[in-house]
Amino acid sequence: MDTKKSPFLERSIAVVNDLSVDEQFYLYRKTAELKQAIFERKDLSSFKLNNPELGVYLMFLEDSTRTKESFRNAAYFHKIKLNNFDSAHSSVNKKESLTDTVKMLTGYSFHSLFIIRSRMEGVCRHLERQIGEYAKAHGLSAPSFINAGDGRHEHPTQEFLDEFSFLEKLNWNRDHIHLALVGDLFHGRTVHSKVNGLRIFKNVEVDLIAPQDLKLPDYYESAMKRNGFEVRRFSSIREYLAQKKIAPLWYFTRLQLERMGDKIRDRVDYLRESVSFKREFISRVPEGSSFFHPLPRHREVPTIPSFLDNSSLNAWDEQSRNGFYTRIVLIAMLGGHFGDDFDGQGLEEKSYDQEFIRSVEVKVKQVPEYKVGIKPVESGIVIDHIAVGEELQVIWNRINKIRKNLDLNVSASHGVYPSGKSGKFKGLISIPDFRKFNQGKLRMLAAISPGCTLNVVDKRQVVEKYRIAMPPRIYNFQQISCKNEACISSSKYYENVVQEFIRSGESGFSCCYCEKEHTFNDIWDE
Ligand code: NCD
Repeated sequence: MDTKKSPFLERSIAVVNDLSVDEQFYLYRKTAELKQAIFERKDLSSFKLNNPELGVYLMFLEDSTRTKESFRNAAYFHKIKLNNFDSAHSSVNKKESLTDTVKMLTGYSFHSLFIIRSRMEGVCRHLERQIGEYAKAHGLSAPSFINAGDGRHEHPTQEFLDEFSFLEKLNWNRDHIHLALVGDLFHGRTVHSKVNGLRIFKNVEVDLIAPQDLKLPDYYESAMKRNGFEVRRFSSIREYLAQKKIAPLWYFTRLQLERMGDKIRDRVDYLRESVSFKREFISRVPEGSSFFHPLPRHREVPTIPSFLDNSSLNAWDEQSRNGFYTRIVLIAMLGGHFGDDFDGQGLEEKSYDQEFIRSVEVKVKQVPEYKVGIKPVESGIVIDHIAVGEELQVIWNRINKIRKNLDLNVSASHGVYPSGKSGKFKGLISIPDFRKFNQGKLRMLAAISPGCTLNVVDKRQVVEKYRIAMPPRIYNFQQISCKNEACISSSKYYENVVQEFIRSGESGFSCCYCEKEHTFNDIWDE
């Protein structure tokens, strides 16, 4: 068994970005070496994971052929213990949570790798954290999790085989890629994973071809632009072919009927029509182009019709074979086999230590006289500028939230007041004879009411003043929840997930599991 600690050992792949760009490229290079060795009929033992202690669990709670079978055969290649989780005949049917199931299975191998497909978005991130903590507390080795497709969210291992296939077609030139994404861009997780998978290329041009109902969600389109991609949109293949700049690589997807609401499903024939390739289009496609597809395609109404199967456009068959090779290498990496020769940039550690409680100079020393309902404080704490500029109801709600969460049952008083002469309003809470908020309470205040100030008052004078900014992370409150119903943290799944949001962009927050973006106000339950 390999005992040297590899940089990939015990890692999990919940999303594409769980491997850095250099690490992704390392996976592709190793896959190319393996593929070449296979075709040259060389001895493959150096690619095999020599670890009898590793147990792989295939947990497919949604249908799958390619992903499941390529992983199964990749595990056979390594001769590791393979467990097939049969959800139809397991305690899932006795209403056991997936968290409980996985926790228990973790004890049945010395080191486990769970490969999970589920409609619960963010499931692998949740399990990685929760089961990781459990394993640590009980002296077990932390299991790895691979996301084999979670609802509409991501499908990172499909992305790895897709990128490997693009690299092969482009002769490993990473300077530029021009790719058309065609089909159900709204529901297709393999498309969503492109947002980060394509970052291995320096210049990326993406053409999105989908009718309005199936268009790529704005969140992903903005993320592509933030990654520096040039993005164009078209509503049908016909419209796309009517202009001059046509991509040499096309990535088709099927219409994901099982994820569509009735309203869209009723119009499916019309929608499919706009993203299905037709014989008459062939002459418009540039010489040497390639068509890809994660598959499966619909046998009656495929978006890539079968008359193209034996044409030079067919890159999808080789793409699906590449799934086997990339997954062999990925299992080897997470099992700790490869990594000695990795010399690139690893993942950046996430840090949530940014300053968000800043001490500011005290300018106005005298505590202002509030005329209505609120007593001037002799000494104590005044929380000021609460939800300044928001609607009155939002300000009142914020005041209540602060009082409830910070447990201010003391004789505090509060109110809503004009904020100077700005015409705006703000909330204010004054707590007499109370001088100390510990760090935990201050963090809580920042999470509930960023933008407020905290004044420490002594003998009617402000002696200390703190400005409380938006924190980098908001977590573990009863009153916050992800508003994506398909998220693993949704109460309907009973998986007991600790809610957590991470600041993204200027003032947005994303759920740390399903990555859905929220505004600050959206996070909170009213
Ligand atoms: C895809 C999936 O499951 O997301 N298939 C796959 O894994 N090869 C695409 C699809 O189902 O359409």
